[in-house]
Amino acid sequence: MELFPSGGSRKPLEGALLNQSLEEVLLTVNNIEVKYLGVILVLRGVYMEVRERQIVSLLGANGAGKTTVLKAISGLLKSEEGEVTDGKIEFLEERVDKKNPEELVRLGIIQILEGRRVFQHLTIEENLLVGSTNPASTKTDLEKCYGYFEPLKRMQNRITGYLSGGEQQMLVIARALMARPKLMLLDEPSMGLAPLLVQEIFGIVSSLMKDEDMSVLLVEQNALAALSIADYGYVMESGKIVLDGAANELRENEDVKEFYLGLSDLGKRRSYREVKHYKRRKRWLG
Ligand SMILES: Nc1ncnc2c1ncn2[C@@H]1O[C@H](COP(=O)(O)OP(=O)(O)OP(=O)(O)O)[C@@H](O)[C@H]1O
Ligand SMILES: [Mg+2]
Repeated sequence: MELFPSGGSRKPLEGALLNQSLEEVLLTVNNIEVKYLGVILVLRGVYMEVRERQIVSLLGANGAGKTTVLKAISGLLKSEEGEVTDGKIEFLEERVDKKNPEELVRLGIIQILEGRRVFQHLTIEENLLVGSTNPASTKTDLEKCYGYFEPLKRMQNRITGYLSGGEQQMLVIARALMARPKLMLLDEPSMGLAPLLVQEIFGIVSSLMKDEDMSVLLVEQNALAALSIADYGYVMESGKIVLDGAANELRENEDVKEFYLGLSDLGKRRSYREVKHYKRRKRWLG
């Protein structure tokens, strides 16, 4: 793991080489630039790699560009007049950055949006059925979802408008699962949930990854929770990747500890000038 010396200008995928899992590469984000409305430059030189059966975490402060990365991968950028204007995205070695969300779902990429949007007037089961893309396996897939998410089975006929935040989060993950994805893009699932519930949901996500041959790209502000289930992590600031490494290394990284986990060696926030790596830190804070 390293902080790279020249901001966003690292050569294509050098960073990804650090992701030394033996699994096959599933997704490659190769130095993409993203603009909204043709003029608002939001991402620069963003690179990332997700391998099969991996949980990769994308961390960063508000406005860093995390959701934009997910939308670039899932094709949802287009509905917001956003576009990948440089670089490329490949999924199973196929170029996908010009494809629409429906095609990408068929290929196996599904994004679960921030905010747990459910169809409030439908029951849990009806919500799940909306997510099914394969009529022949709908019944099996429903049972599979209920197996992972017990509370949903118990409440299958309940209208979803009254569900708790945790139940809604389970429902949107289960609904995505109905499409049998190879890559699930999960945007801030822990937001506003009690720690125990976060643990429960992250535990299920971990087992999905193992049992369903699925990879997960997990956007989180809760760095500790995310790094505890992830294999690999990337940190973004101001539209650029500034740090990447194995999740256990990132957890021990002083910068991550201080800025994302709220910890420091001295038990208090240090002034930047006291810190040996002042320049590095300054660059990271952008
Ligand atoms: N549709 C849009 N049109 C114009 N600018 C946008 C649009 N969506 C996002 N942005 C801008 O892009 C930048 C990155 O936003 P993004 O939502 O990707 O950040 P984020 O890391 O997900 O933040 P948060 O943690 O708050 O969810 C922000 O400056 C935001 O204002
Ligand atoms: Mg976001």
